Amino acid sequence: MEGKASESGIAAMADHYKNFDPATYLNNFLVPEVSRLDKEDSHLSWILSRLHRAFSEGDMKGDLLVDIGSGPSLHQVMSACEVFNKVVLTDFLEVNRNELKLWLQNGSSKIDWTPFLKKICELEGRSPSEWTEKAARLRQVVTDVLPVDVHRPQPLALDALHPSGANCILSTFCLECVSPDLDAFNKALGHIGGLLRPGGHLVIIGCLEESYYYGGPGVKIPVVPVDDAQLCKSLKENGFTLIRLEIFQDPDTNKASDEKGIFAVKARKS
Ligand SMILES: C[S@@+](CC[C@H](N)C(=O)[O-])C[C@H]1O[C@@H](n2cnc3c(N)ncnc32)[C@H](O)[C@@H]1O
Repeated sequence: MEGKASESGIAAMADHYKNFDPATYLNNFLVPEVSRLDKEDSHLSWILSRLHRAFSEGDMKGDLLVDIGSGPSLHQVMSACEVFNKVVLTDFLEVNRNELKLWLQNGSSKIDWTPFLKKICELEGRSPSEWTEKAARLRQVVTDVLPVDVHRPQPLALDALHPSGANCILSTFCLECVSPDLDAFNKALGHIGGLLRPGGHLVIIGCLEESYYYGGPGVKIPVVPVDDAQLCKSLKENGFTLIRLEIFQDPDTNKASDEKGIFAVKARKS
């Protein structure tokens, strides 16, 4: 009975995503943040600085990082691309995968990624003018943009990864935004953890206690509210050792969601 309830909830979530619009999403959540990139207390600056720190501490490097539920976004892999030989982007929706491929193939994309690239160069102690090199590095290391479904025990196609798994799984604003309830969220965390090799790292960033966001014009997508205690419980149940959990109490007044804050987790698969 519980399985059936969860299955119908997951199908309902997939229905909500039918009308997801990459341009609206980027305009709702990233474009308004560009002018605030220099402010340390801004939503996006906090996210970028957490990602920079996570990937520059020296404990995460190797052959492969997989970003789960990339959406039409690239900023989340702009630090990681310096320390992994290969980065695989993934999303559930073809419109998002096409948007990512467009930028990777030097096409025009729905958002100008230059300010993001410049900001991350600055965080790395480089001149912002080196953004073109970072863009080239990103285009070089992203080897694939693949379909994913975190609700499947095997979220990627069976032969998508080398059987030994990934060195790192990254996922931003995905699991809570695509799960109908905490049970599905918990299982999805386990599914993406299954893509990691033992000792591999997990970096997740997401929204705290959010119940909806707008992913398209009038497209209100339900979100399962999670808090820090629930996160720690889910990580433990799924065999992760927590390295760090940070919370940003978000003074953000973005009308496109009811997010109360952001969490950033770095963990290791036991
Ligand atoms: C809120 S967006 C986050 C996008 C991006 N990671 C970011 O931080 O901007 C959620 C993403 O999850 C994707 N998604 C929807 N259902 C999914 C599923 N079952 N498995 C994996 N991703 C899914 C959506 O297509 C969307 O791109």
